[in-house]
Amino acid sequence: MGTWEEPSGGHACAGVVDSGEAGTQLLPQGSRWEPAGGDAGGGSWRREESGGKPARPVPGLSRREIEQRVGACVLLPSLSSVNGVLRELLNAEQRYTAQISDVIRRDPSMTARMLRLVNSVYYGLSTPVTSIEEAVFYLGIRQVRQLAMSTPIIEELQRLSPRRMTSWRRFWQHCIGTAILTREIMAALRPVHDEVEYVAGLLHDVGRIVMAAEFPDHFAVVGSLCEACQRELREVEVEVLGMDHCELGALYLANHHLPEEIVAAARHHAAPEGAGEQAPLAAAVQLANGLVRWSGIGDSGNPAAVDEAGWLGLSGWGILFPRRLEEEQSLLRASLRRSLERLPQILDGLI
Ligand SMILES: [Fe+2]
Repeated sequence: MGTWEEPSGGHACAGVVDSGEAGTQLLPQGSRWEPAGGDAGGGSWRREESGGKPARPVPGLSRREIEQRVGACVLLPSLSSVNGVLRELLNAEQRYTAQISDVIRRDPSMTARMLRLVNSVYYGLSTPVTSIEEAVFYLGIRQVRQLAMSTPIIEELQRLSPRRMTSWRRFWQHCIGTAILTREIMAALRPVHDEVEYVAGLLHDVGRIVMAAEFPDHFAVVGSLCEACQRELREVEVEVLGMDHCELGALYLANHHLPEEIVAAARHHAAPEGAGEQAPLAAAVQLANGLVRWSGIGDSGNPAAVDEAGWLGLSGWGILFPRRLEEEQSLLRASLRRSLERLPQILDGLI
C-alpha cells in the first residue's frame, strides 16, 4: 500500500506507490506522482522515479486528442458484430438444444466455460456434467445465450490490454454481476426479449479497459491516486486524463456502432437522469452496478465505498419508479437480494 502526502498544489493527493497492488502495476517501486500543472483537460502529472531518473510528465489531454486516440483504437470483431448476434439470438429463440450445442462445441473456450459454470452452479450433481447438451439442459437457454454473447467479448477485450490491470478476474466479475442484475431489474419492469440489457451491463465499464489500453500512463496515475485517497473514480479520471471512463467507454462503443441504448448506458450509468429516452436502462445499470459494489462482489476499480443508504439513494430509483410506490420497489429489492446470494457461485463458474 502506498504512503501519501498532501501536495502543496491544488490537487487532492500525490504519493509514493509500492508495486504489486491492483491497478498500480505499471508503477515501479518508489515512483512518485505529483501534480505538475499544465492547462490541458486533465492537468498534468509528473512521475519522479527513484534512482535519479528524469521526471516523466503525464499531461492531461483535450477531448479532441482523446477522441482521436479512441478513434484509432483497434475495433474488436466481437463488439462490431453485437448487433448481428443480438438479432440472431432473437431468431434462435426456438432453436433446438442440439443445434445450439453444435454451435458452442465449435468454440473450445466457450465449451470449457459452460461446463465449468454448470458444474459449479450445480455442484451437488453426483456425476459432473461433461457434455454440452447436458449443460444446456441444466443452465437453460438464457444463460447459454448470455455466455455465447459475453465469452468472445471478454476474451477480445482482455487481449486489448493484457497486463495493465492486475485484477482482471475481479473486474469481469463486477461487469458480469452488473449485467445479470441489470437484466433482472429491467425484466421486473417490462418484457425483456433479447440480451441488450445484459450487454449494456457487461460493457458499462469498458472505458476502464480503453483507458488501460490507450492511455496506460494516465490509467496508472488514476489507479495509484484512487488507491491512496479512496476518492470517486470518475473525479480522479477527469482530473488526470480529462475524461472519465463512462464517456471514454461510450466513445469506444459508438465507434463500434453498438445500439444507442448500450452506448447511452455506458455514458450515463453514473448519472442516468442525463440519458433522455435511454434513462431507464442507464438507471438499471446504475442500480445493478451499485448493488454489486455494495455487496463486495468483484472489483469495479472505484475505491469510493457504497453502503445501503447510498444504494437506496441512487437517482435510478426515481427514474424506474416515477410513482415511487414503496411496494413495487421493495418487491424488486427482495428479488435482487435473492439473486445476490446466488451470484458469487455463478460468477465463480463463469470467470
Ligand atoms: Fe461499474
